[in-house]
Amino acid sequence: MLRVLVVTGGPHARSSAGWPAVEFLLAQIRGFRPDVEVVQRALSAPDIVLPPAAYADAVVARAAAGDPAFALSEILIGELETCDLLVITTPIHNFTVPAALKAWIDYVLRIGRTFDATPTGKVGRLKDRPTFVLVTSGGFHQGERANQLDFLSGYLRYALRTVGIDSVNFVYLQGMAYGSEAVAQAIAEGIERIRSLMPAVVT
Ligand SMILES: Cc1cc2nc3c(=O)[nH]c(=O)nc-3n(C[C@H](O)[C@H](O)[C@H](O)COP(=O)(O)O)c2cc1C
Repeated sequence: MLRVLVVTGGPHARSSAGWPAVEFLLAQIRGFRPDVEVVQRALSAPDIVLPPAAYADAVVARAAAGDPAFALSEILIGELETCDLLVITTPIHNFTVPAALKAWIDYVLRIGRTFDATPTGKVGRLKDRPTFVLVTSGGFHQGERANQLDFLSGYLRYALRTVGIDSVNFVYLQGMAYGSEAVAQAIAEGIERIRSLMPAVVT
């Protein structure tokens, strides 16, 4: 059984402009491995709330994993720990991850639980696993047409590395604000990128 966790970081979830590329990716994965189980985690209210004070206090106090303040964090970490392949699909919001995806990061990166702080830096406790990050954006932040900085990719790569996930592949779906032709082109380019990555990622 190959367990795939799909985390949708933006407000549109499955109605994201980039969802056809996610469906293509999942179909490709099923093509390589018929024994796929897909778990969806939409990062939206009421399930996902911004980390409250009780959570912040429990993190700083290094409270036990069973502390009630860690309930949501434990659920999200459990989903991540038990997946074999991670897919994160997210828009860029003001040059970086949307607030809901940042909240997921704050629940999942937990000192003493998913990483340790050592004198030489933070060391992840989770095993590495193949990861795809599909990034939708209204404009362009990569390549010849880039006219804005991308604070999402480096940050998300660093955050995932902190818990031990290093094998991260980015797929960019850019220019989604430029009409249906631009969207179709972005999806086509994203699909080509997924196709080129697949054989090495899923075996
Ligand atoms: C609050 C907000 C901030 C945004 N910031 C950016 C940005 O910094 N750069 C960009 O290219 N697009 C930006 N966009 C546009 C979205 O990235 C774009 O509409 C994307 O296609 C949405 O994808 P989705 O359908 O997956 O939600 C922003 C959109 C919103 C709602």
